[in-house]
Amino acid sequence: MISEKQAIARMDADHPLLKYIELEDDTINGIVAMAPIYRGALREVSTKLDNIDYEFQTLYDHNPIHHMESRIKSPRSILEKLNRRNIPVTMENMKREILDIAGIRVVCNYTEDIFKLAELLIAQEDIELVYVHNYINEPKECGYRSFHLVVKVPVFLSVGAERVPVEVQIRTIAMDMWASLEHEIRYKATKEVSPEAEKRLKLCADILARTDMEMQEIYKECVKREEDASA
Ligand code: GTP
Ligand code: MG
Repeated sequence: MISEKQAIARMDADHPLLKYIELEDDTINGIVAMAPIYRGALREVSTKLDNIDYEFQTLYDHNPIHHMESRIKSPRSILEKLNRRNIPVTMENMKREILDIAGIRVVCNYTEDIFKLAELLIAQEDIELVYVHNYINEPKECGYRSFHLVVKVPVFLSVGAERVPVEVQIRTIAMDMWASLEHEIRYKATKEVSPEAEKRLKLCADILARTDMEMQEIYKECVKREEDASA
């Protein structure tokens, strides 16, 4: 039976982390052993969001959620993030400092769905809000838009209950399209993208934001016409 550290070393023998971080096997094993609790937290929050979506479907014949994705950060990415921030690799630091080990991306149809979903999630009594980053009202310099929140949710396992952080990124289909392609473009670029490309990416983000507003308006007008017609 090989240790997790040996497994990582086998998969990526050149990884710089393995060369300069003197990791105890216990630490790696500890990170891996945390997976069930973070997976539990992902399920708790996904179910809450799913329930809100279904309720909206039955009450208003409208699904705010287009689709959801979730992931657990790999031990390697956790170690890289601690390393990048010059934080010593310990279980305590990982639990306290890395708040996006459990991550959910919620892709909504319209911008107003984002704020409604966030509001209803935060209002639930077992949810503790850690922080909000509203990159929709205040987009990043590069044009990135999304609503981020970190919440803590209680997870009950055989070892007891723990409040576990989950990062929830909520965005429209258009914001998601931009973020996915921008990420790919930056990842593909061997050097930094050119200032010209930066400008064009920002312009695309602004056009998509304008489109989001327009689609929202069109949708609302259609709903109103339906309501007026059936009144
Ligand atoms: P991380 O170390 O990446 O977790 O960033 P952070 O803790 O400083 O938080 P931030 O709110 O800046 O970003 C969290 C996540 O949002 C990232 O991991 C990405 O998934 C997404 N994100 C933030 N900024 C951008 C961006 O400019 N482009 C894209 N494509 N995604 C972004
Ligand atoms: Mg992250």
